[in-house]
Amino acid sequence: MSKNKKTKYATLSLPDGKNYKLPILSGTIGPDVIEIKNLYNDTDKFTYDPGYTSTGSCKSKITYIDGEKGILLHRGYKIDELAENCDFLEVAYLLLNGELPNKKEKSQFDKKITTHTMVNEQLSLFFRGFRRDAHAMAVMCGVVGALSAFYHDSTDITDNKQRLIASRRLIAKMPTIAAMAYKFSIGQPFIYPKNKFSYSENFLNMMFSVPAEDYDVDPVLTKAMDKILILHADHEQNASTSTVRLAGSSGANPFACIAAGIASLWGPAHGGANEAVIHMLSDIKNINNVRKYIIKAKDTNDPFRLMGFGHRVYKNYDPRAKVMKKTADEVLRTLGKENEPMFKLARELEKIALEDDYFVEKKLYPNVDFYSGIILQAMGFPPNLFTVLFAVARTVGWVAQWNEMIEDPEQKIGRPRQLYDGAKERKFLPIDKR
Ligand code: CMC
Repeated sequence: MSKNKKTKYATLSLPDGKNYKLPILSGTIGPDVIEIKNLYNDTDKFTYDPGYTSTGSCKSKITYIDGEKGILLHRGYKIDELAENCDFLEVAYLLLNGELPNKKEKSQFDKKITTHTMVNEQLSLFFRGFRRDAHAMAVMCGVVGALSAFYHDSTDITDNKQRLIASRRLIAKMPTIAAMAYKFSIGQPFIYPKNKFSYSENFLNMMFSVPAEDYDVDPVLTKAMDKILILHADHEQNASTSTVRLAGSSGANPFACIAAGIASLWGPAHGGANEAVIHMLSDIKNINNVRKYIIKAKDTNDPFRLMGFGHRVYKNYDPRAKVMKKTADEVLRTLGKENEPMFKLARELEKIALEDDYFVEKKLYPNVDFYSGIILQAMGFPPNLFTVLFAVARTVGWVAQWNEMIEDPEQKIGRPRQLYDGAKERKFLPIDKR
């Protein structure tokens, strides 16, 4: 991606008659980008791009999305193949290291993660400070942020070894903390992690077992959990990942950066959409009301949007949603819930929306969140845990992207500029003269 004699340039002509040459860079795949990093220096002008719809903020080798064609690749591998054939830690290894592990590498990696699954016992006292009816994402923001107060030996980001340990700690401890948040909310004792289990089995066990009874983790549900985690593991420079990178660009410690990512993920336009889909389906209640809600979604004077529909990048069916829909079929069949009214309602809503001119013209398709809540609910997760699951999975992507940023020689503190549209300099008046 370096500039050489063959570099192409775009020309920017300004009203003062001056022309500026801007290098055009090519990645391995995807659209070319116009490099503007010297624009302000050269022209005394900034670019204006609210929501960064046309701005590339970094170079990355981790994830590629073609939104028009509905393609998602991690390190070059298609998401549906990864979801079908890998377990979550295999994909985590891929995202972090760039290659799929062989058997030996995989078992070593599994061991390195599982040795960090427990949390400092002192941390469990933290939970008592929260209200039991707190939203699980509120608890996650607090507890994950607090990890930097517990693991001082892995907060020096200039030390590769500390970065590695912090990365493993975050990936390993997220399911433990998520399950603790759930157990606290329902008044059950915390279940300690068991390292004989796979990542997904362990998570399900910590969520749903109780000390008083034996609990066998259903292999179909474990496989579904792996798929759900894989489908959420990374998605290039989305809002929460960009938040993690921006927080990390100042040199903040990894635990604080991931807590910032969790906060960003929580919003209903991002990771909170899976929970919002369930609330929306509950409001719609039955198939007869679907058209009424489609009309609401299209009404520009009504703030209502079809949750789980639309995406900033995908202008085609989200490839993750395809796998999710198939997984929903499998899980609901296994659990004998294939006639679940909410699933039928979701399918009907999808069908009607996909045939509607408004959604067709605006290229609004179901996204990853549309079916995930239905599967999670069928598996026994309460709605306020859905976004927490997203956070557990996305931690791998956040950590991979954070490490990539720190190792990038071009990395600088993130500092966007603005188009100032406020008052010009004016005379100060003391309070009694205003
Ligand atoms: N229902 C109805 N209209 C919609 C929807 C929707 N779900 N999504 C977009 N539109 C319309 C929007 O009103 C706008 O119309 P117009 O051009 O007439 O103003 C047009 O489509 C483009 O929308 P936008 O808001 O400018 O697009 P965006 O790229 O800024 O927003 C989005 C993307 C995901 C925030 C948005 O589609 C949305 O709010 N969807 C519902 C929430 C959701 O499902 N979020 C999960 C995203 S996937 C998981 C993740 O990555 O977090």
